Amino acid sequence: MPTAIVTGGAIRIGRAMALHLAGKGFDIALLYHKSSAASEKTIQEIRSHGVRCQGYLEDLRKLDEAESFINKVLQDLDNVELLINSAANFIQENIEQTQFDTLVDTLNLNLMAPYLLMREYKRKVNKGLIVNILDERVEKTIPTFAAYSVSKVGLKHLTELAAVEWGQTVRVNGLAPGLILPPQGGDPDYLEKAAKNVPTRTHGKIENLLQALDYLMENQFVNGETLFVDGGSSHC
Ligand SMILES: NC(=O)c1ccc[n+]([C@@H]2O[C@H](COP(=O)([O-])OP(=O)(O)OC[C@H]3O[C@@H](n4cnc5c(N)ncnc54)[C@H](OP(=O)(O)O)[C@@H]3O)[C@@H](O)[C@H]2O)c1
Repeated sequence: MPTAIVTGGAIRIGRAMALHLAGKGFDIALLYHKSSAASEKTIQEIRSHGVRCQGYLEDLRKLDEAESFINKVLQDLDNVELLINSAANFIQENIEQTQFDTLVDTLNLNLMAPYLLMREYKRKVNKGLIVNILDERVEKTIPTFAAYSVSKVGLKHLTELAAVEWGQTVRVNGLAPGLILPPQGGDPDYLEKAAKNVPTRTHGKIENLLQALDYLMENQFVNGETLFVDGGSSHC
């Protein structure tokens, strides 16, 4: 069986991707941080597909944990073919408001950890596909989530650099969601209200992201691309 590594795999988008891949027969290495109860539930659901799943509690703000993670997975699971970097924070502070800890944590978790995970994947696995989960904001200039936006723009560029450097053995692509899930704990009408600003006047569904993931996995000549799943919002 092939193995997929999914960071942020216990909840929401990461969880949906991990379950989707389990349904396709992938063993799953599932990285979580605070969602230990949710991770247990997700791991059980993944195993119910008849595949192996190993959970890993890691804090990806700590770069030594990020750098050693791929090795840990390789001790437990075989035939790794896919890395999905989905774990991220999303902190609403413009540049002036940005707390020192926000800046450091955001760049470490959303950019530097994927950098190290990708490099270890290339060094130790050296085949398959890396998918970095980005955001439609990489095409926009909205200062409200400043450190977050910088981290995702950096990750998009890193995706392109790695695709050029490693394309012979490892494809690297970005997947940029738009309005898919409301922020955690937000207004229940958030999606309906925000959809009014999307060109399609709808919000996306997780299934739309899973279709995009399937495309990136199947099309062997797509490398260094960012696939926007955002109803066209990145062009507004
Ligand atoms: N939701 C959307 O509509 C949307 C739109 C655009 C882009 N995105 C991107 O899509 C991805 C998933 O979004 P989401 O909304 O499903 O995410 P989310 O609900 O905000 O969850 C964040 C994920 O990151 C993990 N995480 C947070 N801090 C961590 C740390 N220090 N170490 C390791 N893991 C950590 C969390 O794990 P624990 O819960 O275990 O701590 C959780 O799985 C993110 O990259 C996000 O930027 C989402």
